[in-house]
Amino acid sequence: MTLANERLNGKTNPFPMQDRLSVPRERYYDREFFELEKERLWRHTWQMACRLEEIPEVGDFTEYVICDQSILVVRESEERIRSFYNACRHRATELLKGSGSLLGGQIVCPFHGWRWNSDGSSSFVFGAEAFAAECLKPDDIKLEECRSAVWGGCVWINLDPEAAPLEEMLAPAAAILEPLGFADMRVWWWKEVVLDVNWKLAMEAFLEGYHTMRTHSQLTMGVGEEWDAGSLLYETFEHGHSRFWSKPSDVPMSAELFIEFARVLWEGQDAMTLERDVRVFESIRHRPEAQENAAPVAIAALYEYAAGAGIPLPQLTPEQMGQWGGEVFLFPNFFVLPQYGNALSYRCRPHEDNPEKCRFEVWSLTLYPEGHDPGRAELSGRFAQDDEENWGMIPRQDFSNMERQQRGVHSDSFSHMRLATEWEGAIANLHDEVDRYIER
Ligand code: FES
Ligand SMILES: [Fe+2]
Repeated sequence: MTLANERLNGKTNPFPMQDRLSVPRERYYDREFFELEKERLWRHTWQMACRLEEIPEVGDFTEYVICDQSILVVRESEERIRSFYNACRHRATELLKGSGSLLGGQIVCPFHGWRWNSDGSSSFVFGAEAFAAECLKPDDIKLEECRSAVWGGCVWINLDPEAAPLEEMLAPAAAILEPLGFADMRVWWWKEVVLDVNWKLAMEAFLEGYHTMRTHSQLTMGVGEEWDAGSLLYETFEHGHSRFWSKPSDVPMSAELFIEFARVLWEGQDAMTLERDVRVFESIRHRPEAQENAAPVAIAALYEYAAGAGIPLPQLTPEQMGQWGGEVFLFPNFFVLPQYGNALSYRCRPHEDNPEKCRFEVWSLTLYPEGHDPGRAELSGRFAQDDEENWGMIPRQDFSNMERQQRGVHSDSFSHMRLATEWEGAIANLHDEVDRYIER
C-alpha cells in the first residue's frame, strides 16, 4: 500500500462481480472503484510499457504513464533495459517527458541539474557541499527502479517488487502468439485516440466478435442477420487472459469472395491484412483450383511471395494458423489480432485520473523483409475518433458505440451489463481478474 492511498486500507470491493452473467454498471464510473483499481491493480500488474523499437539505440528512453505514475524505460546497453520512477530525488521534478535519447547517456533534472547514469546511479549533484551528508546518501539519491522484462518485442513493467515473474503472469495466453512471429513484427503505423469511456468498457468492444453483425456489417459480406455469430470460438484463461479464433469453415469461399473480404479488411483497417496481401491474393483470382475453395491456394501464394521477398513468415501448423483472424488478449490491457504475418494490436489505459476517460492506442504491425529496418517507432499522433483521414472504417465503427455505451451506463433504467455466456465470457473473465486484484 503506497502512502498516498492509505485511506483505501481495508476498503472492500464496493461493486464485485456476482456471477459471469452480469457486470454492475458502477464498475465503469465509480470513483472509489477506480481508486481501488489504481492502487491494487495498476500498481501490481505487468503492463506493456513500450515496444523495443521505440528505444532501439543505447541511451534511448521513453516515458510510460499509468494513472498518476510516470515511468522511464531506458536502454542502458544493447541487452539491458531498465525502468525508473520518473521523479527527481531532490524535489520531485519529472525528469524526462515523452521519448528520445539521453544526452551523453545522462538523465538530467531540468530544475537544479542533478544527474544520473543510465543505470540509475547518481553522477552529479550541483552544489553538493550545501547539503547535509545524510541527504545525499548514494543509495538514497539513485533513481528508484521498477521491474521490467521483455516479451513479444515489448518492454513490460511492474511497480510491485513482489509480483510473480512476467512469463508466469502472461501464461498460458502469450504462448499462442509466439509461433506466429509476433516478437519479430515491427510497426507499420501507431496511432492514439482519447475516448470519454472507462478503460474496461473500451476494451470490451474487442473481447467479442458478437458485435460484428451490426457494427461491422460490411465484414459479413451482405448476409446480415444470417451471419453466424457462432463462427468464432472463445477461450478464457487464468490470469484474466482470453482469446477467440475462427472456426474452420465448412463453407469454402470462392476466390472472388476471399479477395473481396481481404480488400475490405485492408481498406477498413490496414493492419491484419495489408495491401501487399491483397495484391498477392488477387494473383489467384483466375486460377481454376482457387474457384471453389480459395483459402489454401491464397495462403500458398502468400508463402511463396514471402519467400521471394525475404519476409520471415513462420511455418505454422493448421492449429496455429487458426489463430489468424482471431485475437489474443493479455490482461490487463493488451490485445493482439494476428493474421498473415501482420497484427493489429491495442493498449488501453485510464486517462487524466478520470474513470470515464481512456487513452486507446492502436498499432499495425508486420513482418518486414529481412534487412529492411523500418527505424524507430513513433506515435504518429492522437486523432479524433471520427477522423476519417486517420482511422479506417473498422476502428471508427468500434469507437462510435463506446461513448454512447458510457452514457448508457448512467441511465436510471440500467443496472448491469447482460453477458452472452457463449460469446462474452472474456468480459466476465477480465472483470473477475480485476476483482482478484482489488480484493487481495
Ligand atoms: S528538483 Fe531535480 S535537481 Fe532539484
Ligand atoms: Fe469491432
